Amino acid sequence: MRRIHPYAEDEPDLPAAYAYPRDHWLRLNMVASADGAAWVEGHSEGLSGRADKRIFGVLRGLADVVLAGAATVRTEGYRPARPRESWRALREGRPPAPPIAVVTRRLDLDLDSELFTEAEPYARTIVITTESAPKDRREEAAARADVIVAGEEAVDLAVAVSELRARGLGRVLCEGGPRVNAQLAAAGLVDELALTVSPLLTGGGAARILDGVASHTPLTLAQVLEEDGFLFCRYIREAQDEASG
Ligand SMILES: NC(=O)c1ccc[n+]([C@@H]2O[C@H](COP(=O)([O-])OP(=O)(O)OC[C@H]3O[C@@H](n4cnc5c(N)ncnc54)[C@H](OP(=O)(O)O)[C@@H]3O)[C@@H](O)[C@H]2O)c1
Repeated sequence: MRRIHPYAEDEPDLPAAYAYPRDHWLRLNMVASADGAAWVEGHSEGLSGRADKRIFGVLRGLADVVLAGAATVRTEGYRPARPRESWRALREGRPPAPPIAVVTRRLDLDLDSELFTEAEPYARTIVITTESAPKDRREEAAARADVIVAGEEAVDLAVAVSELRARGLGRVLCEGGPRVNAQLAAAGLVDELALTVSPLLTGGGAARILDGVASHTPLTLAQVLEEDGFLFCRYIREAQDEASG
C-alpha cells in the first residue's frame, strides 16, 4: 500500500492514518464501484478486496462502536466484532472489541443469530429502535441486547448518536447502508467519509453510498491511499477543526 495524497509514502501506518481526530466523531466507511454502486448482486463483497478488508479491520479497531442499518446487518450477516491481536494497542483502556449497534424500526432481526448470542458482555449488541416498534419484539430484543429507544415512528439519528456518546461510545464507525448514511448526512452528523473506490464498473440498479433524503455536505480530501488499483479516500467535512473537541 502507498499514500499518494497529501504526500507520497510507502507502507503508511494505517492506525495513524485513520486516527480519530476527536473523541466525538462519526466516520462513514463505505466501498463503491468506479461508477458509484454501493453493492453488487445485493452485497458489498463484490466491491471489496484485500486492502479494503485490512482497512475495514483497522477502522473497527479504532472505533468505540460500529453502527449499521438493519438491512446491512441482515444482508451482510453481521456477527459481533472479534478482538484482534493488532487491536490491542489501539484499544488500550477500552474493551477489546467495539459493540455493533443496529438501527431498526421493525425489529426484524434474528435474535438467535451470533450477533446476539455470541456478543461478549463488554460488547453487547445494541439495538436502536423506536417507540412504535412492536412491543413484544422490543422485550425479546432487550433480553439479548441493549435497547435504545430514540424516536417515535423513526429513529432520530441525532438522538441515537448522543445516546451512544452518553454510554462512552463517541467514536462512531458507521458501516452503512446507504439509507442510514443519507439520514446521517442530512442531520449533519457525518464528520468523515472513508471511501474505497473499487476498480470496477457494474451498472445496474444499485444505490449510491447515500440513498434517500437529499443533503449537502462539502468535504475536504484529507488523504488518498492506493493498493492494487483500489483508492482509499479519506474525506473530512469542511469546517471541522481537527484540533478541538
Ligand atoms: N458498499 C458498502 O460499503 C456497503 C456498506 C453497507 C451496506 N451495503 C449494502 O447496502 C444494502 C443495505 O443498505 P440499505 O441502504 O438498503 O439499508 P440500511 O441503511 O442498511 O438499513 C435500512 C434499514 O435500517 C432501518 N432504519 C434506517 N433508518 C431508520 C430510521 N430512521 N428509523 C428506524 N429504522 C431505520 C430500517 O430497518 P427495519 O427494516 O428493520 O425497520 C431500514 O429498513 C445491502 O445491499 C448491503 O450489502 C454496502
